[in-house]
Amino acid sequence: MTSINSVTELDVEGDIAVLTLNSPPVNALSADVRDGLALGVAQAAANPTVRALVIICAGKTFIAGADIAAFGKPPKGTSTLETLRSIEAARMPVIAAIHGTALGGGFEVALACHYRVAVPSAKCGLPEVKLGLLPGAGGTQRLPRIVGVENALEIITSGQQIGARACLEKGMVDALVDEGQLRQGALAFARQVLAENRPLKKVRDLDDKLVAARSKPEVFAEFRKANAKKFRGFEAPESIIRCVEAAVNLPFDEGMAFERSLFLELVASSQSAAQRYVFFAERAVWKLPDVPDDTPVLPAARVGIVGAGTMGGGIAMNFLNIGLPVTIVETRQDALDRGVATIRRNYENTAKRGRLTLTDVDQRMALLTPTLSLDALADSDLVIEAVFEDMAVKKTLFARLDTIAKPGAVLATNTSRLDVNEIAAATTRPESVIGLHFFSPANVMRLLEVVRGDKTSKPVIATSMKLARKIGKIAALVGVCPGFVGNRMLAQRQREAQQLVLEGAMPWDVDRVLVDFGFPMGPFAMSDLAGLDLGWTREASTGQTMREILCELDRRGQKTGAGYYDYDAQRNATPSPVVEKLILELATRKGITRRAVSDAEILERCIYPMVNEGAKILEEGKAIRASDIDIVWINGYGWPAYRGGPMFYGDSLGLGVVRDKMREFHARLGDDFRPSNLLEKLANEGRRFQDPA
Ligand code: 3HC
Repeated sequence: MTSINSVTELDVEGDIAVLTLNSPPVNALSADVRDGLALGVAQAAANPTVRALVIICAGKTFIAGADIAAFGKPPKGTSTLETLRSIEAARMPVIAAIHGTALGGGFEVALACHYRVAVPSAKCGLPEVKLGLLPGAGGTQRLPRIVGVENALEIITSGQQIGARACLEKGMVDALVDEGQLRQGALAFARQVLAENRPLKKVRDLDDKLVAARSKPEVFAEFRKANAKKFRGFEAPESIIRCVEAAVNLPFDEGMAFERSLFLELVASSQSAAQRYVFFAERAVWKLPDVPDDTPVLPAARVGIVGAGTMGGGIAMNFLNIGLPVTIVETRQDALDRGVATIRRNYENTAKRGRLTLTDVDQRMALLTPTLSLDALADSDLVIEAVFEDMAVKKTLFARLDTIAKPGAVLATNTSRLDVNEIAAATTRPESVIGLHFFSPANVMRLLEVVRGDKTSKPVIATSMKLARKIGKIAALVGVCPGFVGNRMLAQRQREAQQLVLEGAMPWDVDRVLVDFGFPMGPFAMSDLAGLDLGWTREASTGQTMREILCELDRRGQKTGAGYYDYDAQRNATPSPVVEKLILELATRKGITRRAVSDAEILERCIYPMVNEGAKILEEGKAIRASDIDIVWINGYGWPAYRGGPMFYGDSLGLGVVRDKMREFHARLGDDFRPSNLLEKLANEGRRFQDPA
């Protein structure tokens, strides 16, 4: 065994050399790894007894890609492209031995090898798009030569990880070897290549798939059209499509140069900076300064849910999906039956789309125990309440649960805004009470706000976070305050949206500006979708807000065919002349002289107060990090990932810019705009939310 450098070793077994990379945690392509690879290949080639080379990784995975933290820093060591060139040009067959995940630059290393073998549990993919990038080491040029243009477009623009068996079918790997036997399997494969005297298979030289694509140039336009909605706002997918087009139309080296130039543009783009920030934010969110990884966790094998409405049912599905038995409680049989039927229908719809079998559906439903008796929750390890959003109702329920649930059970409320401490105080065990704020539809939305009460114990927090991960959510730990992080900030945007409409904009102006910014929907279209009558009653209606006026007229949103917009039978929205007239009347009644409101003002008035509120949340310690707030907004409210979240957005504008605008609004519009202390402080110091405290 020869040590090549700190992360690479070369070992020769007979006439086959094995180059092992060992750079935890994920063998990312750091300068050391690249140098080690290039030097290792050169040393193996210089040894006259060596006739083949296997590249393998120690630890949990093959190379998981370029070192994301190194983008934007001065380049060091052998470049990735040089490294790959040296592999492809080696005089002997080079075989990539893949376990774990060969992703991005890691899979590109494998594609530069002459052969690839993998264990069945391995996965390969080019996830650069998720970082606002494209594969910059030949992925866009080599993959279409193996899998064809349509597959390549799909794989690279989705960034999906593909299991080893599917990789084998598509030709992305050449053979599977037994699980746990990667080294032996790769060596055996290498011997076979030598015995059969197989040629050095260079992907760059493959052409048959490209020839086929040349006769179908319309593929690219069709792909763009089919994915227009999914790609809206993102720069990377279009660059990827152009690179794959180049793979078809240009000689390999020119295609590589084209890929390089577009890659460099993307690396320098604000979108990629935002998406790389999000990558690390998604990982930071699990790190809790005062709840270390070794905090004991409580059992969580049986789940109880109170309330079989839309929320309760959706929450239940999360646990059924991972095979946990769920007892679901309602107060009336018809409501219970409806709730259970909805869960079944949701699963059956998934089955119709081919993503579950009917056996899966039955298995999941068999784990569900519907009941009218709260006492049935006596053996639940975790009880989640998803009943009507009313403090008195919740307190009564938690007092009952306190008498029923077993000692140590986690008692969670799904409230989206009520005081978790007050709910906890209705029990004799506030340390067991926590908020688990799921977002609707709860079986689909990725975000979970885990709301820590003043007395919530650390094991209860650790258990909740761990469970969140298990059910595939991204969880942000937040503190108790009205609306927690997400809805508290949303309230700022909603207030301004309403106000702007009275001052001179129309709902569709506000929606257009926010959709152009990157949200999937504007606030008014969103309200129409949710229903304007949520929490509204005719008796209590004062006719003083647009929402009340619309509800009084039975314009309650999409479900009544009219709200802020008019809807046709297919629920297509058009601006409503009736609403326009009502807005003008309300403004006159309120003595407001309407004026032209610019798009820039709409954006600043809706977004900057959110950033300011986020700063207050940080100041009050209701979120651990600015990036946790960004995770909430990206995963719960459709904030475009390519803008990194509200706090990152504030940072990228410059906090001085946000602060100055808030001061200007404060002088003109009042206290809602007073810059927070933290915003003032960071702006004065020229610092950012994301800088270490
Ligand atoms: N660069 C730098 N750090 C990385 C990294 C990378 N490519 N991939 C993972 N890490 C770090 C994580 O930040 C984390 O660090 P932490 O422990 O300090 O938080 C640690 O490695 C472990 O990662 P995960 O927590 O994500 O571990 P998992 O086991 O859950 O997942 C993984 C492993 C599937 C490899 C996942 O980390 C992943 O998807 N990584 C990113 C893969 C990727 O995007 N590759 C493409 C990079 S861009 C590129 O290659 C450009 C090229 O075309 C030129």
